[in-house]
Amino acid sequence: MTTLGETLALADLERDPETILARLRAEEPVSWIPSMNMWLVTRWDDVEFVDNHPELFSARTDPSFLARALGRNMLTLDPPESTRARTAMLPSFQPRGVSGRFAAGELPALADTFIDAIADRGEADLMADYAAPLASASLARVLGIDREGWEKVWEWCRGLCTDLANFEDDPELKAVGDRAREDLGAVLDRYLDRIDPDSDDCALADFVRARPEGGPLTRDEIINNVRLMISGGINEPVDGIGLLAMTVIGDPELRARLAGNPSLWRRATEEALRLYTPVGTITRQASGDIVLGGSSIHAGDLVSGVLRSANLDESHWTDPTRFDIDRREGGHAAFALGDHRCLGEWLGRQEVRVGTQRLFERLEGLRLAPDEDPVLTGFEFRGPTSLRVVWDSVVGP
Ligand code: HEM
Repeated sequence: MTTLGETLALADLERDPETILARLRAEEPVSWIPSMNMWLVTRWDDVEFVDNHPELFSARTDPSFLARALGRNMLTLDPPESTRARTAMLPSFQPRGVSGRFAAGELPALADTFIDAIADRGEADLMADYAAPLASASLARVLGIDREGWEKVWEWCRGLCTDLANFEDDPELKAVGDRAREDLGAVLDRYLDRIDPDSDDCALADFVRARPEGGPLTRDEIINNVRLMISGGINEPVDGIGLLAMTVIGDPELRARLAGNPSLWRRATEEALRLYTPVGTITRQASGDIVLGGSSIHAGDLVSGVLRSANLDESHWTDPTRFDIDRREGGHAAFALGDHRCLGEWLGRQEVRVGTQRLFERLEGLRLAPDEDPVLTGFEFRGPTSLRVVWDSVVGP
């Protein structure tokens, strides 16, 4: 008998993930997808189990696109090996670190700069003209490489991601990734040569100052993990801003509530991240044979925990496909659930919330351009390809 998994291709999951994931949860919660050569794990409890058992489901996959494109980094290692860089780097992305100072002081002003840049036009593509510059400039500032300009940082991000998604080993795509990896590596080397660890207030200086168990971080540890941050820490806030802006534009009642009570923007941010889950999956490799959700997984099989599906699991959430700002059902899985939970989670949330809130505060009459119909694309990474909007007038800052 043909299984549901045998009939599926990545293109189906990119086109209509909600319907397919609901069927998988109901009929084949741990499903082998031959066209993707991996298992998809779709129920909340099983996804949580995979993410919390690195001894059974390893992040040290072989082959590893992440290690090939970026160099060995924390997301390609299991604890305790991964813990060293993670522990040393996490404080920079928390409220008491450089990210906290950035979010409290500079982030709203940075958002205003990019709004000012489009203000007179009366129309823009929010993804390309606003979210991408803001997310690139934010991470560059926190890292301490903002002298490079946001365009350069965005170009690195796109170059690295080109090779990360190069599943068929296309030499031209690999060359694009190689160039970004080497160029960024050389620039980081120069910055690290000049860091003053006694006074510089940026994440790169924190990384040099850090003293995790086993001694200071090596150059390679710093550079490879910064490549990971640039490849992963820009697209997601970009998609997050697009998804939240799209949601608010499309829901006048929600928009009125946010205008009347701006503190609700926090809840709106969380609910948009839950409902759309910009990073769809976590990929691991089975260390041994194991039965999960009634399916027999073999040692060496690739296993994908589908965060997007966990966030829509009807046994975990009430009416999960509905955007409900009043939901009180606990944390979601958009930043993952285990040892590799997003390092930049706190900063990412601030960028999405402040970035989107400023748009609605400043661009009066913000709405979709007359011929715009936002289309969400992607399975691994999901967001609107474009979000063309118009507005009537600009307030402030
Ligand atoms: C809305 C924004 C964001 C979302 C939805 C998001 C999502 C995620 C997810 C789901 C993971 C787990 C991946 C896995 O286990 O395979 C992850 C890991 C990671 N994220 Fe984010 N991310 C966001 C923003 C950021 C930012 C701003 C940074 C900047 C530093 C960042 C850096 C990282 C790093 C370094 C890891 C690997 C952590 C580890 O291996 O321990 N992310 N992110």
